[in-house]
Amino acid sequence: MQPFTFNTAPSLVFGSGAIARIGEIAARQLGPRIALVTDAGLVKAGLLEKALHALEEAGVAVDVFDGVVADPPEAVVLAAAAKAKAFDARAVIGFGGGSSIDVAKLVALLARSGESLPDIYGVGVAKGPRLPLLAVPTTAGTGSEVTPISIVTTGAHEKKGVVSPLIIPDIALLDPDLTLNLPPHVTAATGIDAMVHAIEAYTSTSANNNPVSKALAKEALHLLGRNIERAVHHGQDGEARAAMLIGSMLAGQAFANSPVAAVHALAYPIGGHFGVPHGLSNALVLPYVLRFNASACEQAYAELAPYAFQELEGRASADAFVEALASLCMKVGLQPRLRDVGIPQDALPMLAEDAMKQTRLLVNNPRSLTLNDARAIYEAAW
Ligand SMILES: [Fe+2]
Repeated sequence: MQPFTFNTAPSLVFGSGAIARIGEIAARQLGPRIALVTDAGLVKAGLLEKALHALEEAGVAVDVFDGVVADPPEAVVLAAAAKAKAFDARAVIGFGGGSSIDVAKLVALLARSGESLPDIYGVGVAKGPRLPLLAVPTTAGTGSEVTPISIVTTGAHEKKGVVSPLIIPDIALLDPDLTLNLPPHVTAATGIDAMVHAIEAYTSTSANNNPVSKALAKEALHLLGRNIERAVHHGQDGEARAAMLIGSMLAGQAFANSPVAAVHALAYPIGGHFGVPHGLSNALVLPYVLRFNASACEQAYAELAPYAFQELEGRASADAFVEALASLCMKVGLQPRLRDVGIPQDALPMLAEDAMKQTRLLVNNPRSLTLNDARAIYEAAW
């Protein structure tokens, strides 16, 4: 058994309606002045109301920053951090999808440590300290509430990450009721993203791949694979929503400590150049990358198959797993091909070159992947 390190959020609070407890939790564990980071869409949809009411009841002063956008640029992070500092915030709450939680992580860091954002990109570069941090996910996908990763858009198309155990939230508050009204396409894309996190964590060649991540990945796939169709097609099903939220959190814990690989490396350029949401980008390349990897993952994919798909119990194989995933992407209504999301064929060589720059991810892939391989995968997915 190899040595490994496993880090995760020290406190998880889960339950239907758990958001009503945020005031009591904040007053006890975060203190009386809190910067809350979210996006305007959630405010408009009224999703924040119960949280703000509970915080007010508990006597906590809250300053809301609602300027988070998808693929948040540096300017948004800096504006949120400046607002938190001006408010003299003593703690931070991230409320929303992966983007809001990612921004909140950096606000907690920048508002306290005095570090400058361009200086802390990379793995283990940030020094801290940071403000106490609570994350409330409103999608079941990124797992950001338990990961040490925050992704920022730094140029027109470039993304950089701050990766450090320092930014793992102190508390993740998981209330599946907050996800009941997510539209089917968002439920599908974010759910597939979470499944990819579990699969790539399980097969990661990272030296820190470990038995805890593997166990979590299996249970994550069990919850996600067996509930995603129900959550997509029957959005108000609280049990399916709960399973998806726990599943995405478990997948987040898994890949936080056994990082993802080529599916993500090939998905990022699709998002960066064509604005395709992260989960859908993953789904578009998922079957093709897994078919490429299958020769190196015969056993691992066969092990995962029956967790994700009941129909594969007793007849699991790598091929059956990959084909079941491809068919699942169709069943939950995700576009099947790169051309369907407006990507021209002549853009594929450029996407392949960009994907090869994701060395942080490609080193974890179970089969080494060349520029020609990346091109062939994009061609197959087109
Ligand atoms: Fe992802």
